[in-house]
Amino acid sequence: MADDDGGRGPLDPRSGDPGLERTLRPRSLAEFQGQTELKEKLAVFLEAAKKRGEALDHTLFHGHPGLGKTTLAHILSLELGAGFHQTSGPAVERPGDLAGLLNGLKDGDILFIDEIHRLSPVVEEFLYPALEDFKIDLMIGQGPGAKSVRLALGRFTLVGATTRAGLLTSPLRDRFGIQLRLDYYRPEELSLVVTRAAALLGARVTPEGAFEIARRSRGTPRIAGRLLKRVRDYAEVRAEGLIDAAVADEALMKLLDVDAEGLDQLDRRLLAAVCERGPVGLDTLAVAVAEEPNTLSEVYEPYLIQEGFLMRTPRGRLATLKAYRHLGLVPPKSGPGPAEGQLFD
Ligand SMILES: Nc1ncnc2c1ncn2[C@@H]1O[C@H](COP(=O)(O)OP(=O)(O)O)[C@@H](O)[C@H]1O
Ligand SMILES: [Mg+2]
Repeated sequence: MADDDGGRGPLDPRSGDPGLERTLRPRSLAEFQGQTELKEKLAVFLEAAKKRGEALDHTLFHGHPGLGKTTLAHILSLELGAGFHQTSGPAVERPGDLAGLLNGLKDGDILFIDEIHRLSPVVEEFLYPALEDFKIDLMIGQGPGAKSVRLALGRFTLVGATTRAGLLTSPLRDRFGIQLRLDYYRPEELSLVVTRAAALLGARVTPEGAFEIARRSRGTPRIAGRLLKRVRDYAEVRAEGLIDAAVADEALMKLLDVDAEGLDQLDRRLLAAVCERGPVGLDTLAVAVAEEPNTLSEVYEPYLIQEGFLMRTPRGRLATLKAYRHLGLVPPKSGPGPAEGQLFD
């Protein structure tokens, strides 16, 4: 897996648990909770492709980490009964790395490229004719004897996943006939994710217990799965295995330091740093909380922004009144700028 676990906090959806992910991963669109609109569209495209007996158009999924992009790529191949081949942007260093993979694809097969925004420009160029004409040009041999050979490929479907569609070059983005965005899940939807995962793990959870975990999982199924596992541990040791709302709350507070709003320690340190210093730039903030700038901007900030704790302004990050209140801090009387009128409700 491309996911690495660099000792990140419990909420960082990038810190993977491959075993857990495999067990909990839905295997059909019907099992995939939430993302209703996306699923409806996908179902139509799948059915149309199947009816025509053609490969699905190249498909791009974008959305924050842990929302289900890899899961959907697998589901596509299962729904189509097609072969599944996987690599990731950083793993493909040279066109040659991709040539072998492409050459092995049969009609209808799915090639999944995770973190596709991280493909190098030469590899991207090499990919274009494969995507459009299902052909690649290969150089065989070296020096004066070298010759170019054209290779016909199977009519495959490229499925790309990216956390940041904006980082894709437009020529690459334009080659995806289907582009779908995943959003944070609503607590009600995540509740279903938790209930389903609990059943798979053999954990006993009440509807209120599931909702408590769901509500504090930052709209992210991967986090919901991880929190559920730890809450289950707590319930087994302290509550005879039954997860109700009170047990979930206690476990989240005591074991995971996840507060009532679903924020973890790093979120709170980040917000505190912005309250203290704001407006503050990303790099300064990263130093203040000892995290990588990318992790902050891609994993932590989007949820804090969506939930109205944080704002990105041209002058830097600013905390909202909600953030001050949540941390029990007193907001400054004279705000840092004219935008304050809208900032503090
Ligand atoms: N809609 C969903 N319903 C149920 N479980 C989900 C859903 N989306 C994701 N998951 C779970 O969350 C985990 C992370 O999903 P994944 O597809 O790896 O996210 P991404 O590739 O977007 O980072 C998976 O193990 C899967 O079990
Ligand atoms: Mg993934």
